[in-house]
Amino acid sequence: MIQSLNDSMAQCSNPLALIAEITHRCPLHCVYCSNPLELTTRSEELATADWLRVFDEAAALGVLHLHLTGGEPLARTDLKEMIAGARKTSLYNNLITSGIGLSRERLAQFVDAGLDHIQLSFQDSQEGNANWIAGARAHTHKLELAEWIHEHRIAFTVNLVVHRQNIDHLEEMIRTLEELHPDRMEIAHAQYYGWALKNRTALLPSRAQLERALAAVAAAETRLKGRVRIDMVVPDYHARYPKACMGGWGRQLMLIDPGGRALPCHAAGVIPGMRFDSVRARSLDWIWTNSEAFREFRGEEWMPEPCRSCDRRKEDFGGCRCQAFLLTGDAAATDPVCELAPMHHLIREAVEKDSRPEDGQASPVPDFRQAPFHVLQEKMTGFWAYRTDPK
Ligand code: SF4
Ligand code: FES
Repeated sequence: MIQSLNDSMAQCSNPLALIAEITHRCPLHCVYCSNPLELTTRSEELATADWLRVFDEAAALGVLHLHLTGGEPLARTDLKEMIAGARKTSLYNNLITSGIGLSRERLAQFVDAGLDHIQLSFQDSQEGNANWIAGARAHTHKLELAEWIHEHRIAFTVNLVVHRQNIDHLEEMIRTLEELHPDRMEIAHAQYYGWALKNRTALLPSRAQLERALAAVAAAETRLKGRVRIDMVVPDYHARYPKACMGGWGRQLMLIDPGGRALPCHAAGVIPGMRFDSVRARSLDWIWTNSEAFREFRGEEWMPEPCRSCDRRKEDFGGCRCQAFLLTGDAAATDPVCELAPMHHLIREAVEKDSRPEDGQASPVPDFRQAPFHVLQEKMTGFWAYRTDPK
C-alpha cells in the first residue's frame, strides 16, 4: 500500500511536456490526422493572453518542453508572440508544422523570437503521392523550407507518417529526407485514433509490409549513425504488447486543446462521461493534481486483470485507454493490442480484415492525385475520408 502511494505521488510529481494544440485549423487534410473528428472552431480558440498565462504556469509547474502544434499552428497570426512568451519562461519550444504558411521572413522572425526546434512533417517522398495523402499541394514548399531552416541555428526534425499507402517505398523516403540534413528523423507509423481509425482499412499495413519497413529502417540507422538520429514508432496492431501511451496516463504529459480543455492525451475526448477542466477556469497546477480526468487512470489502482498482476505494467501502464475504449467500449479494459487481453481477438480480426492482401501492397495510386481538394474528396469517397477543416 505504501509502495502504491509512493508510486502514485511520484507519477504525479510534475509533467515534463506541454502539448499546446493552439488551433485545429489546417490547410492540409491528412487522412491519418490524430485530431479528433469533432474539431474546435476558430471562435472557440483561446486568446493569446490565455496561452501566455498557460506557458508561465507550465514553466512554474516544472514543465521542460513546449510543443506548439495543431491543426497547423501557423494558422495563428499571433504565433510569434507565443514563441516569444515561451522564450521568456524556461520552456524549450518546439514548433510542429507542415510548413504551409511559413515564409523565409516569418521563420526568421520566429527564430529571433526564440524558437528552439522545428519539426517538419512529410507525407511521402513523391510529390503526387504526398499531395494525394494530404489532400493539398504542399510537398514542394516543404523541400524549400528545409533549406531555409538551415540558415538558422535551431534543431531540425523531419517527421514521416508511414502507412499502407507509402510504406513500400520507405527506403526511398528516408533517402529523400536525409538529403535535407535533419538532426533527427521520426518515422511514425499511423496510430489508429481520430481520422486514422476512420480510415484504417486504407491505412493499416500488413505484417509483411511492416517487416520490410523495419529492415529499411535498420539499414538507415546503420548508414546514418552519428549523423541523423532515427526514432521509430511502430504500429501497435502488429505488436505483442501495447505502447506506453503518452508515457502513462497523467504521468508525463499534458495536452491543452484549442478551446482550453486540459487532456491527458490527444484522444481522451472520445471517452464518454469524462470531465475535462479548462485552463480558462483552473490553473495548470490544480488541473495536474486534482482534475478528475488526470486522476482517472493514473497509477495502477484502476487496472483490471491481467494488467494488475502483470510484470509489464510498469513499462506500458496497461497500454492506451483511448484505444481500449474505441475498440471495446470500455476505457478501463486492457488494451486489446496486448496478446494477454481478453479482447485481443478484436485486433487479430482487424488485422485480418484491414491489412489484406497478406503479402501487403499499396493500392494503385490514382492519376488524379494532384487534383484540387474538392475533386480528391469526391473521387476518394469510399476509399478514405480526408480530414475536414473547422470553421
Ligand atoms: Fe501491459 Fe496489461 Fe498486457 Fe501486461 S497484461 S503486457 S500490463 S497491457
Ligand atoms: Fe489516449 Fe492513448 S491516446 S491514452
